[in-house]
This record gives sequence, C-alpha cells and structure tokens, in this order.
Amino acid sequence: MKILVTGGLGFIGSHTVVELLNQNYEVILVDNLYNSKLEVYENIKTITKKVPIFYQGDVCDPDFLEMIFERHKMDAIIHFAGYKAVGESVKKPLEYYENNLVSTINLCKMMKKYGCKNLVFSSSATVYGSPKELPIIEDFPLQTTNPYGTTKLVNEWILKDFHHSDPSFGIILLRYFNPIGAHESGLLGEDPNGIPNNLMPYILKVADGSLPKLNIFGNDYPTRDGTGVRDYIHVVDLAKGHLKAIEKILKEPIFDVYNLGTGKGYSVLEVVKAFEEANQIKIPYEIKERREGDVAECYADVSHAFEDLHFQAEKDLKQMCKDAYRYNQRKKERK
Ligand code: NAD
Ligand code: UFG
Repeated sequence: MKILVTGGLGFIGSHTVVELLNQNYEVILVDNLYNSKLEVYENIKTITKKVPIFYQGDVCDPDFLEMIFERHKMDAIIHFAGYKAVGESVKKPLEYYENNLVSTINLCKMMKKYGCKNLVFSSSATVYGSPKELPIIEDFPLQTTNPYGTTKLVNEWILKDFHHSDPSFGIILLRYFNPIGAHESGLLGEDPNGIPNNLMPYILKVADGSLPKLNIFGNDYPTRDGTGVRDYIHVVDLAKGHLKAIEKILKEPIFDVYNLGTGKGYSVLEVVKAFEEANQIKIPYEIKERREGDVAECYADVSHAFEDLHFQAEKDLKQMCKDAYRYNQRKKERK
C-alpha cells in the first residue's frame, strides 16, 4: 500500500511516517521545509533503516503535485501540511487561509484526476471552541475563535462536501487534542523556532536553561488547581492512531470524524510536577494573567475512536515528559 504523507517531515508527520514504514507501508513524503529540516528525513531513515521517497515542494503548487501523482499511484493520503500557530494566524490570516485551504483543494483535485480514493486529514480540538460540556464528543457544536481554527473547520466542510459529491472517496477527519512527547530514540521531536507558544516546548526551554522560568497563564480557572486543563497525548500514540484510520478507510470509503486524545485532562501545574518528577529537574514558574482565547478545560471523549478504530493511547504523562526531555537533550548534543 502506497501512502502520500504531506508535511511528513513535521512533528506529527515524521512520527507517523516511522510507524507507517515499521508496518511496511510504502511512503511518499512531501514537505516544503517551511517548519522542518532535512535532517528529519535522515533521522527517519536511521530509525527505520528504510528509505522513503521524499519530494521537497509545496502542496499548494498544482504542477508539483501533478508530477508526484503522475509518477506514483497512491492508495491514500495523510494530509498534515499546514501552518499551525494560533497567534500568527491572527496576524497573517491570508497566508493561513491560502496555505491551509489551497493545499487541501489541490489534493482533492488530484484524488479525482488520478483515482486516489482515500484521505486522512489533520484537524484539531480547536474546532470545538469553548466546549459547554466535558468530555468533548465528536458531534458537539463547532465554533472557532481564530483564523487557524477557522481553516481547520473550513477544511472539514470542504472534505465533507467532497465526499458527499462522490461517496466513493473515503475521508477521515482526526481531531487531535494536545500532542507532546517525542520518539524514544531521541531523534524525532518538536523543534519550534524562537520562543515557544505551547506549554511543553516552553518547559523544555526552561529545563535547559534557555529561559529563566515558565509563565503560567492564569490560576483562577474553575479547575482542580485553577490552571488550564488539557488532554495531552504522546505523539507516537497519535501517530499510531493514523495507522488505525488508514486501515479503516482502506476497507470502506467512509466519511467519519474521530477525537484522538487520551480522555484524561491534566492541569498546567500537574504537567510541571510530572515533568519535574520524570526528569529530576526543577521548573521555576510564575503565575501570570490568563492568555486571551484560552479555554479552562478541554479533554476528549475517546470512545468513538476506541469502538470504531480500536485505538487507545497507551503512554502516560510521565513517559511524554521523559521522551520530550530526551529529545531536547540529544538535539543539544548533536549541535
Ligand atoms: P509541523 O509544522 O511540525 O508540520 C507541518 C509540516 O508541513 C512542516 O514540516 C511544514 O514544513 C510542512 N508544510 C507546511 N505547509 C506546507 C506546504 N504548503 N507544502 C508542503 N509542506 C508544507 O506541525 P505538526 O505539529 O506536525 O502538525 C501537523 C498537522 O496537525 C497540521 O495540519 C496541524 O495544524 C495539525 N495539528 C497540530 C496540533 C499540534 O498541537 N501540533 C494540534 C492539532 C492539529
Ligand atoms: N500555558 C502556560 N504557559 C505557556 C504555554 C501554555 O501556562 O507558556 C498553558 C495554557 O494556558 C493552556 C495549557 O498550558 O492552559 C496548554 O497550552 P498550549 O499552548 O500548549 O496548548 P493549547 O491547548 O492552547 O493549544 C494547542 C495547540 C492549538 C490547538 C489546540 C487544540 O497549540 O493549535 O491545542 O488542539 F488548536
């Protein structure tokens, strides 16, 4: 089975490529290196001892995509490529709409033209906005609060309409909760540029002394300890969820939506404590104002993915903290 992976050198894409190769899928990787580095390709080869085909280029470029579809008959696509920074999307909405929507539309056109029948799409829990109830079920009302979130929601609509227009196309939307952690080899992980926006990358910078302390955004939320609660999922578990989705969609051309999380929520203070215990490092922190746009609590009902895809996340928060730290240390040693 031949799978096209767009954004395959990114954080989640690279881990998924490793799992696909380990299960003997043939993988065609596409990435324009906007938010990744060529060394990730080398590391994928080192881990798997396999050589997937890699094309450097832009999924928004129809000629580039056409060249790939002419050369390879794909059984399915996993579409990770996109921009993902919430704050940046508020400042650069046009770039976000263009990259995140044109890429999907181009892929759908190629699917039609070349008879590739299956696509798995990276959506996000951000499409639930501020949930009225918890845990979050897939049929909850959808609502977005920033351009990034809106690109995810519009992508979901485009793909639903695409399936509706021809039900022989199978589409699975995966709504990720908060992926963290890294590959156990220490060779793949998350490597954001500059000062990180997200919690785990920020903690890592404090752990290695690049930043003095963690700013915790609010301790007056209606949660166990007042800090924000999220459903953190190990990126390797998340990657395995994609294989379950691929197995499902290769059997029948369904349209369906699945939450991928653990179903458990942890507060910011609980993550800090878990990180300190897992790695024997103190993380100094200071409580700051709430961050605009943050919700108090967000965690998934994971029963649909469990019952239908037989997917269940296995790695706990301590493992996520250990693996993330190991990657960060190895990355520093390699430099
Ligand atoms: P990432 O930025 O690490 O990976 C995305 C990859 O796509 C990068 O390697 C980038 O260079 C590439 N890319 C971007 N635009 C491209 C284009 N036009 N053509 C070719 N390559 C392009 O992000 P990630 O964390 O791995 O996320 C993957 C997907 O999952 C994204 O669509 C993201 O929005 C979504 N998602 C991520 C999270 C998260 O917290 N990481 C949560 C929910 C959803
Ligand atoms: N937090 C801090 N300090 C920081 C960073 C984060 O206290 O320096 C807190 C946040 O307030 C929140 C929690 O840590 O309570 C998690 O924040 P992240 O920024 O790591 O994650 P979010 O849940 O805000 O957002 C992430 C992705 C979005 C995605 C969303 C749902 O960044 O793109 O998960 O999938 F939409």
